[in-house]
Amino acid sequence: MVKITFNSALAQKALGKEGDGLVGDKDPETASVYNGESSTGRCLLTLLGLAFILTGLIVGGACVYRYFTPKKLYHGTMHFTELDSDSVPMYVARPPYYLPRIDEELEIHDNVAIINVPKPRFGESDPAYILHDFQRKLTAYLDLTLRSCYVIPLNTSVVMPPQDLLDLFVQLMSGSYKTYLVHEDLVVTERVDDLSKLGYYINTLCSGRDTYRMQRRSDLISIQKRSVEDCFSIRHFENKFVTITKICKA
Ligand SMILES: *[C@@H]1O[C@H](CO)[C@@H](O)[C@H](O)[C@H]1NC(C)=O
Repeated sequence: MVKITFNSALAQKALGKEGDGLVGDKDPETASVYNGESSTGRCLLTLLGLAFILTGLIVGGACVYRYFTPKKLYHGTMHFTELDSDSVPMYVARPPYYLPRIDEELEIHDNVAIINVPKPRFGESDPAYILHDFQRKLTAYLDLTLRSCYVIPLNTSVVMPPQDLLDLFVQLMSGSYKTYLVHEDLVVTERVDDLSKLGYYINTLCSGRDTYRMQRRSDLISIQKRSVEDCFSIRHFENKFVTITKICKA
């Protein structure tokens, strides 16, 4: 008795559902056609929506990636032999790991190369940031010991263009490199008060620091050489040789 009641109740429910469906579809044929069109439309809309969301995610992801991941740094090491008069010939014959070395980190954006030169373990050289602005054709040395900036026109016969510089660092990553040393003698000429003339990148690097312009000593016409000069040097490379830049305050 109980079973039968239960079954009939179920059957009624099922029937009720079917019945509802039938009542809803007054004209089954047109309804099905209409449903087909609307579902295609809905499908297209959904796809379009998904495409928008995906585009948003990709663009957003790219922006997040660009702004929140550290910039790509290229690491390079060079060993060099001192080709000074006081250098010992035996020095050259030694394996590279006995030679003084320079480590650098390079970062390139657009037309600007920023080189981080840490303090070397041996030898006298200041740690520095060196910025080459290929657009403005200027080089700035930010000496991290003196906390001041020194600016000079970019010397394109010493500094490789950005792409070549990158290639050089890629080469350096695959092994040690042995090279020679070039001396550069620069003299501070004047203080720069308006950094905005030096372009965005140097302005950013040097803002809040004492900033000076320099010239090559050989380009100075009248050299009033002081008996005691206040000099410092930075060893670095941005070509296949190492440059030791000696900067003197005249
Ligand atoms: C660039 O540097 C090289 C090597 O130090 C030097 O001989 C040359 O005169 C420099 N050129 C300019 C324009 O300063």
